[in-house]
Amino acid sequence: MTSEAERLTLVLVGPMAAGKTSVGRRVARKLGIPFIDTDKRVVAAHGPIPAIFAEFGESHFRELERDAVAAALSEGGVVSLGGGAVTDEGTRALLRKHPVVFLTVTPEAVADRIAGGGRPLLEGEDPVGRWTRIFEARRGWYEDVASTTFDTSRRPMHRIAEEIAAWRREQA
Ligand code: S3P
Repeated sequence: MTSEAERLTLVLVGPMAAGKTSVGRRVARKLGIPFIDTDKRVVAAHGPIPAIFAEFGESHFRELERDAVAAALSEGGVVSLGGGAVTDEGTRALLRKHPVVFLTVTPEAVADRIAGGGRPLLEGEDPVGRWTRIFEARRGWYEDVASTTFDTSRRPMHRIAEEIAAWRREQA
């Protein structure tokens, strides 16, 4: 990894549809370091996430995800994790050495963002209700790994990205 990527690496965590990918991409551009989306890495290597869940189960997905997080962190950059990555103890341990930004969002703001599908844990009736229950169940893990928190519900993603990049530069 470059010395800039090493110096400025940061991790984004948070519930599904909190904006981890869109904010992360912008933060990486502002900091001039690579952007890595660990879900995309898993999909590139192993195929679509719904198919992995259906064929091998969630715990297998968490193992693949943990390996992708470890590889991403060793490369350095802005690393955006899937919403459930923090449920895995091994993944949480990998995060301890890095600045971690917890992106929050309200159920009201998330309703439109989750309409597209492709998230096996939200399939079925009442996706916002499911999303809310899953977020509440995981909140303690997010708080456990987080160095700071930004809410993405009401402000443009580029503004939030600017603030996160400024926060990260201050830490470096
Ligand atoms: C999951 C979130 C998804 C993806 C998978 C499982 C979760 O990522 O990793 O569907 O358990 O919350 P996003 O947070 O990018 O939707």
